[in-house]
Formats: sequence, C-alpha cells, structure tokens
Amino acid sequence: MIALRRTRPAPPRPGTLGAHAVGQLWRLCRVVGLSWADAAAYTEILAEMLGPVAERPLGLPPAAPWSFLSDDRTPVEFSLSFVAGARPTLRMVLEPGGGIGGLEQSGRTGLQVVRELARLWGFDTDRLDELEDLFFPAAPQGPLALWCALELLPGGVPKVKVYLNPAASGPERATATVREALRRLGHRQAFAALPENDRLLFFALDLGQWDEPRVKVYTAHHDLPVAAASGLSRMAGGPDAAELEAFLRAAVEPGDGHDALLDQRPVQGCHGFTETVSGLPSCYTLYVPIRDYARHDREALDRAVVLLRRYGIDPDRLVSAVGAVTERPLEDGVGLIAYLALAHQQGRAPRVTAYLASEAYEVRRPTASGSLRAAAGH
Ligand code: TRP
Repeated sequence: MIALRRTRPAPPRPGTLGAHAVGQLWRLCRVVGLSWADAAAYTEILAEMLGPVAERPLGLPPAAPWSFLSDDRTPVEFSLSFVAGARPTLRMVLEPGGGIGGLEQSGRTGLQVVRELARLWGFDTDRLDELEDLFFPAAPQGPLALWCALELLPGGVPKVKVYLNPAASGPERATATVREALRRLGHRQAFAALPENDRLLFFALDLGQWDEPRVKVYTAHHDLPVAAASGLSRMAGGPDAAELEAFLRAAVEPGDGHDALLDQRPVQGCHGFTETVSGLPSCYTLYVPIRDYARHDREALDRAVVLLRRYGIDPDRLVSAVGAVTERPLEDGVGLIAYLALAHQQGRAPRVTAYLASEAYEVRRPTASGSLRAAAGH
C-alpha cells in the first residue's frame, strides 16, 4: 500500500495531518541543529510513513479511533533525548499508515513499511521476521499492531525501533508471547529478570545502525506509591533507589504527601537486553506520564527544566522544541508534554527524554489540580 519512493513526493497540502506533522518536524529538526538536507529527508520520510493519511484534512476525525499512540489519536509523537554536554537527539514514533483500515491492516502496513525502510537504509529485519507469527496473528487484538520509531541522527540515516504488542493474541497470552519472543532471540533468562508488574505493554527491537541493539520489554505499574519507584529497576549498575525516587518525585511533585500514589496513568518501566550471557538487563528507563500529574503544560515544562538542570543539561532546546510544536499558551492545555523519562544504559551517561504530543486533533483542557492521592493507610 505504501511505497517509499526514491523520487521526491509532493509535500502534504496545507490543512492536512501531514502538513501539520511535517511542519512540526521541520521546526524540531532546526531546534536540534539538523541540517536542511537532513530535515528535508526526515520530513519526507514522515509523510511517506504516514501514507495516504498524511493527505487527510485535519477537519476529519482521526483515521484510527482505536489508536493509543497519543491521547488525541494523532498517529505520530515526537521526543527529544538529552544527555549532558551534547545536542539532544530528536526522535519520532509513528503508527505506519496512520492505522487506517484497522488493526490487522495496520500490522501488515507496519511490517511492509519497516521492510521498505530496511531496503532503503540497508539493514536486515531478521529478528523481526523471526517473531512475525507471535505478534501478527490472524485475528490480532488491540491496542496496537506495530509502531515504528526513528532516531533522527545527522546524516539522513536514522536508527530504527519497532514496537510490538505482547497482547496481540489476547492479554492472557502476553506473558507466554514475550517469553517465547525472548527465547527465540536467545534471551532465555531475560524474562525472569523483569520486575513484578501489572501489564506487559510493548516488546521492542532495535533495528539498523546500533552499536548494541537492544531487545526491550515495557512494563506498567499501576497505583505506584512514589516511594516504591526505587524498586522498579533490575539493571545491575543502573539507577539507584534514591535517583529513581528523586526523578519521579520531581516529575510529579507530590508535595508533602510523600506516600502519594500515581493512580492516574501508570508509570512504565523498560528493561533492555543487549547480551544473552548474563540474563540481566543492561539498560533501564523509567517513564513518568507527567500529563496526568500536572495542571497544565507550563507546570510540566517547569518540572522538566528542573530535572534537565539536575542532570547538567541546558534546558533551552526543550523550551524551543515546545515552541516548535505548538503556538498555544502552555497554560491552556495539558498533554503536550506526555512523558518524562530517565534512561540508564551501562557505560553511558544518563539520558532525560521529553515526549511531545503533536496535538493535531485535540488539546486536553488543563485540570484544576494535580491528581496525586495519598496512599491508602497513610
Ligand atoms: N500513548 C501511550 C501511553 O501514553 C503510548 C506511548 C506513546 C508511550 N509514547 C509513549 C508510552 C512514550 C511511554 C512512553 O502510554
């Protein structure tokens, strides 16, 4: 359905989803210092990966009402990943084909698009191919089939990540599916290394130009007391208990209620495996859905700035990036900054990532108060 062409396609027409997202991406590319040539290449890829949905007028409802890639069903989300002393990396995650045609078609389109990207940039999809029967059953269940993320490096060739749905054959099969996927990729002991959790959310693969490609498993943690963040990571040499708790606390600002529960959208964790010998994860990321714990995006941005500074990172580019995706006053909505994440990988400096919603369809209204509840029995 979607052919990634080598000839230059026409840019999406004004007033379409594609024009909205391409405009945002173009400005974001400039914020992080990518060249004009890279920005041109990456915006073209974005429109190509969205396919015909890019031409959909913004006045029409989202093509995939079931999609949960973003709150308002925009099929793309941006993020900036920061490490001290370097330019941030710009990334985007999208539902290839915009989810049009339903879940099953979305899965087929997703696989086709990833394989076309592989041809375009010269990488192999062997590890994905090995898992196809597990994650793409005949009658897939929701809420996603395949998401594809690109890390938009200078030079026009991105790193590629693919996200799959552990519950594709039903939530009751998620554990078995993830175990089997890990086993096929040689990570026989990895499942046992995961922390207790409420749900397996994504199974992800790095494809393409990675030094150490990861296999990642995402977990959700409902009603987490802030103080329990310390127990989420199973990474040896990873973030210590105090660091995780301090990050979470600064992101949600529970104030005096030090046992406050994150009882809105759950905190997520991601363990990444890069070798099959130890059975242990070599990376860990904590994702905080800050949009459910802040009144509006000004508050969310202020907290992000504090956190970036704490890690020795200049927050200016985040402030510019926010201005690149929206013109609205930040007090007028919440959800533009969807998540703040803290990522640790062995042998590397910690990274702080801010996820930015495209808000093509809707802005969530600000809430009267942040929504932390005291822990039961407190
Ligand atoms: N929108 C979904 C959620 O909020 C999935 C998602 C999109 C997500 N971007 C994310 C999850 C970044 C974690 C981090 O859960």
